[in-house]
Amino acid sequence: MEPLIQATRLTKVFGDLVAVDGVDFVVTPGETFGFLGPNGAGKTSVMRMIGATSPISGGELSVLGLNPETDGPLLRSRLGVVPQENNLDAELSVYDNLMMYGRYFDLSRTEIRMRIEELLEFVQLTEKRNDKIQALSGGMKRRVVIARGLINSPDIFILDEPTTGLDPQARHVLWDRLYRLKQQGVTLIITTHYMDEAEQLCDRLVVMDKGRIVAEGSPRALIEEHAPGEVVELRFPVGVLETLDGQIERLSPRTEVLADRALIYTDDAERTISAVTTNGLEPEMMLARRSSLEDVFLRLTGRTLVE
Ligand SMILES: Nc1ncnc2c1ncn2[C@@H]1O[C@H](COP(=O)(O)OP(=O)(O)O)[C@@H](O)[C@H]1O
Ligand SMILES: [Mg+2]
Repeated sequence: MEPLIQATRLTKVFGDLVAVDGVDFVVTPGETFGFLGPNGAGKTSVMRMIGATSPISGGELSVLGLNPETDGPLLRSRLGVVPQENNLDAELSVYDNLMMYGRYFDLSRTEIRMRIEELLEFVQLTEKRNDKIQALSGGMKRRVVIARGLINSPDIFILDEPTTGLDPQARHVLWDRLYRLKQQGVTLIITTHYMDEAEQLCDRLVVMDKGRIVAEGSPRALIEEHAPGEVVELRFPVGVLETLDGQIERLSPRTEVLADRALIYTDDAERTISAVTTNGLEPEMMLARRSSLEDVFLRLTGRTLVE
């Protein structure tokens, strides 16, 4: 299949700072492709180059077969964008925000009106159509931005941190809507620093750190490759972890001692848990879980995703 997006050694610099340091990736039609990485990794810079709102500094980038440098207006008319910041007009109603945005595109008023009805229904805001943006919750505002981004029936829908700062319930409502889009065959590009979001939504993703791609694959393949098996997490009373002096490390060939907890990677969590007790360790809390993309990130960078 022809890729929808192809990036080769894609680079973005701001003065002396290399924000995106020669990344390669390909997005194919119908997939949900993710950029997982902590703050400052370069995710937004990549999204803005794809969206033709920020020029590339080096490398090559093709989006829908177009060159963002020279085909900006045409490209923007075929993309849907949910920027990291909502940038809605707070004084205007939900409906007027959508109408105003629709008029940037070459759509008739009748078309826009029909589209708005469908989209309000889709994001479950039909009842809020006349409310001013400033009166809405964070989750509702995010849903307005999603509806807005879909107004031109885009070929690619780009979402920069769709659920950052929202409470768990609002996040689940959004995930459900994004999942529906995905099922309708819409190509989604999502950036996130939440490993659960990446794991639930993305068919494939790249892990980004400091402007570079450090790993690429499906969530399952990444976990299999970099952090297979299970994890036993231990928490100790304040100050104890520092005194353990290698006792954690002796329990498994792969361990991580973080500021607030210790992680032990294992293929047999039950045996590891009994080894903890037999070795005289007395954690305050102990739990076994499947390893996740958070563990992949930790393994590859030595740091956690959310500081
Ligand atoms: N307009 C800008 N001018 C200068 N530096 C920027 C600008 N935008 C982003 N940066 C810097 O580039 C790096 C990557 O930022 P960004 O792409 O926003 O990362 P992310 O979205 O992963 O948090 C950061 O160090 C950030 O401070
Ligand atoms: Mg960002």
